[in-house]
Amino acid sequence: MTNLGDSQDVKAHQPIDCFILKGVDWLWLLHPAFAVVLIYPLIGMVVRLGWQTRQRRVSKVKHPPVVGRDHSDLGRWLTAAVVLLVLIALAVAIATKVPLAMFAGGPPRALLLILAWLGSLASLIALLFSKAALLRLGFSLITWVGVLSLGAQPEVWRLSDQPFSAAFWQSHYWGGVAVTGLMLFSLGARAEILKDLRLRRLHITASLLAAVLFVMQAITGTRDLLEIPLSWQKPVIQSCNFQTQTCPANTPKRS
Ligand code: HEM
Ligand code: HEM
Repeated sequence: MTNLGDSQDVKAHQPIDCFILKGVDWLWLLHPAFAVVLIYPLIGMVVRLGWQTRQRRVSKVKHPPVVGRDHSDLGRWLTAAVVLLVLIALAVAIATKVPLAMFAGGPPRALLLILAWLGSLASLIALLFSKAALLRLGFSLITWVGVLSLGAQPEVWRLSDQPFSAAFWQSHYWGGVAVTGLMLFSLGARAEILKDLRLRRLHITASLLAAVLFVMQAITGTRDLLEIPLSWQKPVIQSCNFQTQTCPANTPKRS
């Protein structure tokens, strides 16, 4: 048995081409790369403009009058990007769990899931262009229910589904769908946040919670990335004992 801690040294002794990513590994990188390149820079801009909007309104700080509009416009992009980011993660998780030929439920279930995925995307697009309050409420809810339904599939890894367990609060999945719901709320209520002080306050509370969740997503996401092996390493990693943190190995020892 070899302690998992020794695996770092294996890399140093292997020719580098052993580590070339396979197609499925690239698919797994889509979601984290999209989050790092697009989502987090957008969050920075949206939070800063939101703060400036408040300073301008409450403390009469002399920011340009467009900060509120820019905040709201970038917020719209942020919400759309977060939903897309989550839809990508869910599609990859469901499609790559087992080889396609072994897909549980076969083509009929696959078709149903593809329709749910496309329906969620269509509902997001409809939300982006809807004006009437009832339509915005409806499309926000449909988009979120679509995300939750895809997330409920057995292929999607969730640390825990028990809100009373510590693991639930460290779950990348639950943090992800919660922050998606908060973003969809802000997008759906955009017009009302502008007009109604109570909704503006609710928006600030929801967005503070969202900001904390975004930070947690960065932590739990990189943790998950650390735990997922490359596809060709999977059989070995799955044979490890996670309780005793040992692997049945003929792994080279530290020299
Ligand atoms: C983490 C994300 C976000 C944070 C921290 C945030 C924060 C804020 C803050 C502090 C304000 C100023 C409130 C005030 O004047 O008292 C504001 C206003 C506003 N936010 Fe957000 N927000 C976020 C995301 C969003 C999103 C996704 C949308 C929807 C598209 C949105 C739409 C608005 C609108 C319409 C206003 C009013 C702007 C104005 O007065 O001209 N926000 N937000
Ligand atoms: C806006 C922030 C993010 C949101 C809303 C989000 C949401 C999600 C969701 C809903 C899933 C599918 C459920 C799951 O498989 O756990 C997922 C998977 C995943 N995310 Fe994220 N994520 C975010 C940021 C990140 C970041 C920054 C990274 C890493 C750099 C990351 C890495 C991953 C990985 C590796 C998976 C697959 C996890 C697994 O199956 O165990 N995510 N994400």
